[in-house]
Amino acid sequence: MPSDGGRVALITGASSGIGRAAAKGLAATGWRVGLLARRKDRLDDLAEDIRGAGGECVVLPCDVTDRDGVRRAAETLIDTYGHIHALVNNAGIMPLSPLAAGRVDDWERMVDVNIKGVLFGIAAVLPHMLERRSGHVVNVGSVAGRRPFPGATVYSATKFAVRSISAGMHLELSASDGIRVTDIEPGVVRTELMDHIPDQDARRSFEERWADRRPLEAEDVAEAIRFVLEAPPHVNVNELLVRPTDQPT
Ligand SMILES: NC(=O)c1ccc[n+]([C@@H]2O[C@H](COP(=O)([O-])OP(=O)(O)OC[C@H]3O[C@@H](n4cnc5c(N)ncnc54)[C@H](OP(=O)(O)O)[C@@H]3O)[C@@H](O)[C@H]2O)c1
Repeated sequence: MPSDGGRVALITGASSGIGRAAAKGLAATGWRVGLLARRKDRLDDLAEDIRGAGGECVVLPCDVTDRDGVRRAAETLIDTYGHIHALVNNAGIMPLSPLAAGRVDDWERMVDVNIKGVLFGIAAVLPHMLERRSGHVVNVGSVAGRRPFPGATVYSATKFAVRSISAGMHLELSASDGIRVTDIEPGVVRTELMDHIPDQDARRSFEERWADRRPLEAEDVAEAIRFVLEAPPHVNVNELLVRPTDQPT
């Protein structure tokens, strides 16, 4: 039986970094949140934190490259709370390397998670949002979706795609169907994202460039996500570029 209460958000990549911070931040302001990622143990820990602080959530272990799994996760959330008001399409990976290193498997994984995963999230919630003629999709893109960086060509391409998908969604769905869309474009954020860079040279070069600079914290981006979601219904923040003060490009 769906419970009455605050608005409902499905958050992908909720097991760490920006997604985790967004889930905590939204739950703290009364949103009921669906926590989606692959690592169930992490999601269970987060759920305990959220519930301990008086919030409401559902753990939805899932791989965003599993189209049916994402659809089922959205259905579970709708069955539990009656609605999905927002999707935070945040799950992403960034195994950086120069093209010349030829890490084609990494290129394919980035396309699968960062582009197809975003599309599968949209596909899972769109019928419900169209029916309600209301909803908000926040896609977590990147500053890399505005310009490529050396060693980040494929990652940038996936984030250009996220920006393009966001712009297309706005054209097709905002005025006609009441669905808002935002592309949040963070600069460098202190999360686990860099820990998974398998190319040692790419990782070292990134760490050296940031040794004396202050990146954003996950909570800074989570606050930006909350800001766009809680804007009045007639306000659609389509793009939000949030860089550390220490990041010139
Ligand atoms: N950190 C930055 O500097 C930065 C800058 C700009 C944009 N971003 C973007 O911000 C988003 C979040 O990244 P983050 O920095 O918070 O990194 P993070 O701490 O590594 O978090 C990534 C999240 O994505 C999830 N994920 C990865 N692959 C998945 C899959 N196949 N299915 C489901 N979930 C998956 C991970 O969970 P599981 O491993 O448990 O599945 C994790 O929860 C990404 O889209 C990233 O591109 C980050």
